[in-house]
Amino acid sequence: MLGNLKDQPADKILMLMASYREDPRDDKIDLGVGVYKDPDGNTPIMSAVKKAEERLLKSETTKSYTALSGDPAYAQAMRELVFGETGAADRVAAIATPGGTGAFRQGVDLIRMANPGATIWVSAPTWPNHLSILKTTGTPFVEYRYFDATTGGVDFDGMVADLNSAKEGDVVLLHGCCHNPTGANLTADQWHRVAEILLERKLVPMVDLAYQGFGDGLDDDAQGTRILAETQPELLVGASCSKNFGIYRERAGILFAIGDASDTKTVQGNLNHLNRQNYSFPPDHGPRIVTTILNDPQLRAEWQAELEEMRSGMLALRKHLADELRQRLNDDRFDFIARHRGMFSRLGVDADKVEAMRRDHGIYMVGDSRLNIAGLNARTVPILAEAIAKTCA
Ligand code: LMR
Repeated sequence: MLGNLKDQPADKILMLMASYREDPRDDKIDLGVGVYKDPDGNTPIMSAVKKAEERLLKSETTKSYTALSGDPAYAQAMRELVFGETGAADRVAAIATPGGTGAFRQGVDLIRMANPGATIWVSAPTWPNHLSILKTTGTPFVEYRYFDATTGGVDFDGMVADLNSAKEGDVVLLHGCCHNPTGANLTADQWHRVAEILLERKLVPMVDLAYQGFGDGLDDDAQGTRILAETQPELLVGASCSKNFGIYRERAGILFAIGDASDTKTVQGNLNHLNRQNYSFPPDHGPRIVTTILNDPQLRAEWQAELEEMRSGMLALRKHLADELRQRLNDDRFDFIARHRGMFSRLGVDADKVEAMRRDHGIYMVGDSRLNIAGLNARTVPILAEAIAKTCA
């Protein structure tokens, strides 16, 4: 039986992580996987997280099972973080999931149960694992135009034209903020226009919100999701706490399914069923850290301040890199890096240039020229700018 298995295509991001580790050069620079690094190159545990864990260690009296959907207090705290005051709670069903990937996978399974004929529309490009999960589950998908490599911005006319050809009941996957891999995001006006198209064509939006707080701030980054929650009859949202709480390995995510209030009980039952079928109970330690922080004003303020420091640090690095490139190249070709938001920017250079930067300068970025801004620091920005100028000019 096992001999029948074929090798799986390697995950490009994880493969890059492995080759970075194996590279013996001392001056190598990791701009691959989306993990936040401080100026010393560490991924520290946030102090609010440490304090929440200490509190949990003292106060927890059991490790018995929670609910199939996870701890209800987590769902409530996350609902408020993601949706703010928007939307009636009686329309929202939710399950805790192993990270944002788990939320996406459960969302895809839910779509397949509810409407097996639906095609999922994904941005060109999108996070490679979206595509891999859609392929693995045999879910039909097509791409809509999104990134304009010549401007480094969003090809909004192309996106609108493509979404206007979707059929009723199709699902449109949108990145809530900090688009991965490009860093190019919709404006509030564009979110409103997308909301109109979704309504007109009776499409169902699915939002992947993996970087709330890394772009323009916690509320601003949820703005698109909240516009959809206010305007759409149905909406799926997968949110991750991996990045904004820095608890990657704890696997804290959540899937929200918003629909007609009369359907909520059945939707919740289906979500619980999906958890039961796939892994029974979702991870609990990460969600409990998140709930502890969000429900304690002092810890929450401390977390927000730390998150804000990370966010403003990434913005400063963006500006620094764009400035260095403008000086070296004497043109504004890469100015879009300063306009992008979140962890990533896509440089828009060919794979052979990306490979040359890895080979000649020890700089690791994903083959599509996505770089993790948070992997940089004030010392490495000029090194990267020099490598880009030498390789791509
Ligand atoms: C990334 O895009 O680098 C992150 O979301 C990590 C991952 O799992 O791919």
